Amino acid sequence: MLHLTALIPLTVVPPAASRTEKNIPDFISEALGSVPTLPYLSPELQGDRLLVGANFASAGIGILNDTGIQFVNTETSDSTFSLTFQPHFDTFSWQINIIRMYKQLKYFEQYQARLTDLVGYDEATRIVNDALVLITVGGNDFVNNYYLIPFSPRSRQFSLPDYVRYLISEYKKLLMRLYDLGARKVLVTGTGPMGCVPAELAMRSPSGECAAELQRAAALYNPQLVDMINELNSQYGANIFIAANTQQQTTDFINDPAAYGFTTSKVACCGQGPYNGLGLCTAISNVCPNRDLYAFWDAFHPSEKANGIIVNMILSGSTNYMKPMNLSSLLALDTKTKT
Ligand SMILES: *[C@@H]1O[C@H](CO)[C@@H](O)[C@H](O)[C@H]1NC(C)=O
Ligand SMILES: *[C@@H]1O[C@H](CO)[C@@H](O)[C@H](O)[C@H]1NC(C)=O
Repeated sequence: MLHLTALIPLTVVPPAASRTEKNIPDFISEALGSVPTLPYLSPELQGDRLLVGANFASAGIGILNDTGIQFVNTETSDSTFSLTFQPHFDTFSWQINIIRMYKQLKYFEQYQARLTDLVGYDEATRIVNDALVLITVGGNDFVNNYYLIPFSPRSRQFSLPDYVRYLISEYKKLLMRLYDLGARKVLVTGTGPMGCVPAELAMRSPSGECAAELQRAAALYNPQLVDMINELNSQYGANIFIAANTQQQTTDFINDPAAYGFTTSKVACCGQGPYNGLGLCTAISNVCPNRDLYAFWDAFHPSEKANGIIVNMILSGSTNYMKPMNLSSLLALDTKTKT
């Protein structure tokens, strides 16, 4: 599985908690029976390890180059954005590794050249065409850009609806580039209900209601993402891209946590301040005794149990969640066209 993404970085697991949280790519790898992919820049990504894919993901970035610029000069003394996004590694890098989308796509190209050296052009092309590509980007363009500070440059430049249209048009270019580079099965996840994460409740919504502006942004962005993906599929005459409605998926357990076995969908398991939503999960944070009862692990990230639920919906959810089809159907479709 090839994984390009812009995750908000996963936070370090406090020493008290030995288990690390499995994220969505981990669960998908597991469901597909493949091993988790190594970060592209890992020195261990050599030889046969290249055959099972790579992880090009970077923390904090967005569709736009100017998303996450505030992290670029963050130095090692600030732990905020220095942690690895790869939760299966016990050690974490203290280096800031911001890899913007265009750079991830360059690495994807470079990866293919290395694959070609290993197995030849035809086989490398086949591997890339058959690979599942997972791309998660967009949320940071709101939280780490448009809404980062009041009167941010982008918010003075664009009204929210115009900004959303601009993001979608830029995202479309990235997806077309992925297609040109050989990706033929691409899972695109929309943004979650950004206004409902514990961080936003803590910062913007003392009453506990989901923060309205970010909810409005998600409500504008996600349907346009689906429209854009439908356009691309008809342009290419094949179902290349599928969109996961993570907003609907997450909203389900936010609205009715008990139905999913959660005692809360507002308070993070690990953190501090209101809703445990301020700052990162660190060794000095409050940690809940049973993280499976929490929809959110930290201020931004769903818990492992919530990620498992989301991945089940990605794999086998109805068209309310997955457009134009779920991942199982996409993978089955490919098998059929190959034989
Ligand atoms: C982002 O930066 C790269 C490198 O400077 C450039 O090639 C690309 O066009 C930029 N993307 C956008 C959307 O401006
Ligand atoms: C989703 O996937 C399952 C297989 O797990 C399939 O049976 C089902 O029909 C699919 N649903 C839709 C709406 O495509």
